[in-house]
Amino acid sequence: MLGASSPRTLEPGGTPAPPLSLCCGGALLAILMLLALPTAWGQCKAPEQFSSARPTTPIDESEFPIGTSLKYECRPGFIRRQFLITCLPNSEWTDVSDKCIRKACNTPPDPLNGRVHVQTDTQFGSTITYTCNQGFRLLGPSSALCILSGNTVVWDNEAPDCERILCEPPPAIPNGEILSSSEDFQYGMVVTYRCMPGPRGKKQFNLVGEPSIYCTNDPDNNGMWSGPPPQCITVNTCAPPSVKDAVMVSGNRSLFSLHDTVQFQCQLGFVMKGPTSVQCGALGKWEPELPSCSRGCQPPPGILHGQYTPSVDIFSVGQEVFYSCEPGYDLSGAASLQCTPQGDWSPETPTCAVKLCDDFTSQLLHGHVELPPSLQFGAKVTFSCDEGFRLKGNSASYCILAGIKTQWNSSVPVCEPCPHPPTIQNGHHIGDYTSSYLPGMKVSYICDPGYLLVGRGFIFCTHQRTWSKFDHYCKEIKCSLPPFMDGIRKEMEIKEEYHYQENITLECQHGYTLEGSPWSQCQADGWHPPLAVCTSSSRTTLIIGIILGMIFLILLIIVLFWVIPRYKKRNITHGKSKEVNINLYPPESDHAQPQSLLSSKENSSGLP
Ligand SMILES: *[C@@H]1O[C@H](CO)[C@@H](O)[C@H](O)[C@H]1NC(C)=O
Ligand SMILES: *[C@@H]1O[C@H](CO)[C@@H](O)[C@H](O)[C@H]1NC(C)=O
Ligand SMILES: *[C@@H]1O[C@H](CO)[C@@H](O)[C@H](O)[C@H]1NC(C)=O
Repeated sequence: MLGASSPRTLEPGGTPAPPLSLCCGGALLAILMLLALPTAWGQCKAPEQFSSARPTTPIDESEFPIGTSLKYECRPGFIRRQFLITCLPNSEWTDVSDKCIRKACNTPPDPLNGRVHVQTDTQFGSTITYTCNQGFRLLGPSSALCILSGNTVVWDNEAPDCERILCEPPPAIPNGEILSSSEDFQYGMVVTYRCMPGPRGKKQFNLVGEPSIYCTNDPDNNGMWSGPPPQCITVNTCAPPSVKDAVMVSGNRSLFSLHDTVQFQCQLGFVMKGPTSVQCGALGKWEPELPSCSRGCQPPPGILHGQYTPSVDIFSVGQEVFYSCEPGYDLSGAASLQCTPQGDWSPETPTCAVKLCDDFTSQLLHGHVELPPSLQFGAKVTFSCDEGFRLKGNSASYCILAGIKTQWNSSVPVCEPCPHPPTIQNGHHIGDYTSSYLPGMKVSYICDPGYLLVGRGFIFCTHQRTWSKFDHYCKEIKCSLPPFMDGIRKEMEIKEEYHYQENITLECQHGYTLEGSPWSQCQADGWHPPLAVCTSSSRTTLIIGIILGMIFLILLIIVLFWVIPRYKKRNITHGKSKEVNINLYPPESDHAQPQSLLSSKENSSGLP
């Protein structure tokens, strides 16, 4: 069995180690079976296959009682040894990991001009690698594996050789020569060029480019020269400038004269660093220094109402730019773009979309709302009122920014025909209060108690959004006593003014009588009941006396007028006899005289 294995086979012959999936699948199966059959406690499953050891006799049973021991031996590649594994009381087999020790390959020496690298160790299954010193390249395999060969372990590869890197002979240039000490162009060797001098040592050519180049290596460790050789150019001419990844916009020629200019443009996907145009200088050199084209992008496109950062001239491949929008605008699309190796920007350039405010749905009673065509940031909604109505509030609302959100900055006003009615001192207005005072609406005023409304007492809202003339007021109610009040008691305190509902009680002086109610109250229309008066008692008797005297006189006169004519009539008849008497009886005239005297006397007193 063992003899059949080839030197390159890592796996020991006969029974190959089980694949990992089988081992783990088996373990999983064992666990599942353990879970499914609790009665299995007290026994071990058949042991798994080990990569380092195998049973000495094939195992047929699937379960083993605790305490069972099985005989194992180490596989080829491991130091040969036999040992036992035992089924433990926890239904596990004893550990085998430290039972078999790998055989080790011998450590190889470093190759000439190179090194050997041991990765972990040199045991069976391990790998070593080889590298060469600088200036040398590996000839042969770069690694070796420790494998089984018969009963021992060996490296599967011989150590490689390290070969010196050599360059081809440096390129020859027209009108120039190479200064070199050796014919063997090894790695690191420098060669220098020189231009041929003209006749009699006069300078005929200019050396353009690096005068020296050296032997180096390419990525595949082949020898190569560090750069192109210089050129020997006739004085006052320039060799065609060469700029990698650029095209000469102004056209190419084999040779350029003094002061000729050329213009460059980088190829697609490249950006220029340096001047776009150069001029042929006196020493056969282009001035200023030639530009260079490197992979990268032109600045990304600008966007309306937005910008990008960073803002530089040249963007290298993979560089990111970040776009942002002005306040009031929302970025639509990707916020960052990347410079691709193709020299363009990806993904698509974003745009800045103006932010919108919410739809304006509010209505204005007795007026109308004028909406702008678009409700974007800065938009203005205007409000106007119907004729005869006055706008109360803001006449416009703007779509403004509040933080990052947009909103209308003013609420809808109201259209009212008349303002609030004016107030009145010591009174108030009454009437149905509505949110607005419409034309024709009337507002009445009433005064506080103790005040009297003077004037019309109401106003109305006109079509000119004003109130009609306000020509009333509340006048304080006051009462006063007349300036002269006869017979009022002197001790009584008399005030100049009496307030609404104030009482007064009047008393008269001695000898006077009160006529009317003794107390009165000050009311809106004056004293109530009306003020009383005091009248003198003596004057009353005098008046009564006069009246009685008059009555007596009148009666006397009536009597006199009635008595006298009758007496006179009787006296005429008696007079004749008297005269007779007089004439006849002169001594009797004394009696007659007093009588006529008396009558004449009475006559004169009866006539006032
Ligand atoms: C210009 O032409 C020369 C040969 O005439 C060539 O070597 C060189 O590469 C050209 N340069 C450009 C930029 O085309
Ligand atoms: C609303 O915004 C406008 C414009 O910015 C401003 O003129 C106005 O005063 C603002 N109104 C209010 C109520 O803030
Ligand atoms: C005035 O008299 C009336 C009736 O007697 C009384 O009700 C009222 O309170 C009095 N007023 C004052 C201010 O004393």
